[in-house]
Amino acid sequence: MAADSRPLHERVAPITPPPPPNVRALQARVRALKEARNAVILAHNYQVQEVQEVADFVGDSLGLSQQAAKTDKDLIVFCGVHFMAETAKILSPAKKVLLPDLEAGCSLAATITADDVRRWKAEFPDAVTVGYVNTSAAVKAELDYCCTSANALRIVNHIPKEREVLFLPDFFLGMYIKKETGRANMQVWQGECHVHAGISPQDIVKLKLSKPDAEFLVHPECGCGTNVMAMVASGAMPRTNTFFLSTEGMVRHAAESQAKEFIVATETGILPRMREQNPGKTFLAANERAVCQYMKRITLEKVLLSLERDQFEITVPPAIAAKARRAIDRMVAL
Ligand code: 13P
Ligand code: SF4
Repeated sequence: MAADSRPLHERVAPITPPPPPNVRALQARVRALKEARNAVILAHNYQVQEVQEVADFVGDSLGLSQQAAKTDKDLIVFCGVHFMAETAKILSPAKKVLLPDLEAGCSLAATITADDVRRWKAEFPDAVTVGYVNTSAAVKAELDYCCTSANALRIVNHIPKEREVLFLPDFFLGMYIKKETGRANMQVWQGECHVHAGISPQDIVKLKLSKPDAEFLVHPECGCGTNVMAMVASGAMPRTNTFFLSTEGMVRHAAESQAKEFIVATETGILPRMREQNPGKTFLAANERAVCQYMKRITLEKVLLSLERDQFEITVPPAIAAKARRAIDRMVAL
């Protein structure tokens, strides 16, 4: 018999892909177990849509920490990343907080340790330390103020002008705040989130040329942020259609704005919710590859397992939690 000359991939029978998991059935099981266990599910805006759909609250890191503090449920399943679940635990020490996958970390939070902060403070002993919520509990315990992308500007503006500020860990957010407040006495840690740092000025310029009427919604962690600000300052980009917003700020703005087209510079997980809530408006990703693999580690299957097996519990040593809580409470008080 003559040898089959076809390439291997044509000779081998294709493997039938497994049927897609039944999302609706899984969601029904998650909802039923959530009720049975008196649990609340919190999901960040970057979570996959099917996880967002089973959540009691979807929002940004500030909104979710507030929801975590308010809930009267015994159990919090946090569909987000590790530092967010820690923040929920700090605010609700009597509740059990579960993170469905312990590998859901954050490249930005990983850029600084508590020892780094202590060393930095020793260099500037009179400075006020402001840290983004994307930090571990141990880092938060070293801060004067915690902040989020929604309130960083307000927090730094509140600090007396003559006091030196140490801002950590996000460099792009820090530079945005430094520019907006006009503070010369502000040191900024050189940390970045690999997802937002990857949204480059080139992405923005290309889209701006093709969509001149679209509104730009920019997360202040973005690598393009400083350039966008410079373009706004030079008049190359109109101030009136450029907005620096937290993820939930973007969702709110999209609903309220009269504009019909938006370019969204942040992680793309936020887009399905924006599209669903605003039929008739168009949302384009500034960069389609802006996907946070840490956020995407949380799947519906893992949420179900988390509720079934109580995994994985997030704890914070009480002494660290008490100190970290002071910085969060100061933020919330403002
Ligand atoms: P938000 O607080 O705007 O949701 O941002 C959190 C975050 O991790 C951004 O990458
Ligand atoms: Fe962290 Fe960036 Fe992912 Fe946000 S998008 S959780 S900052 S790695």
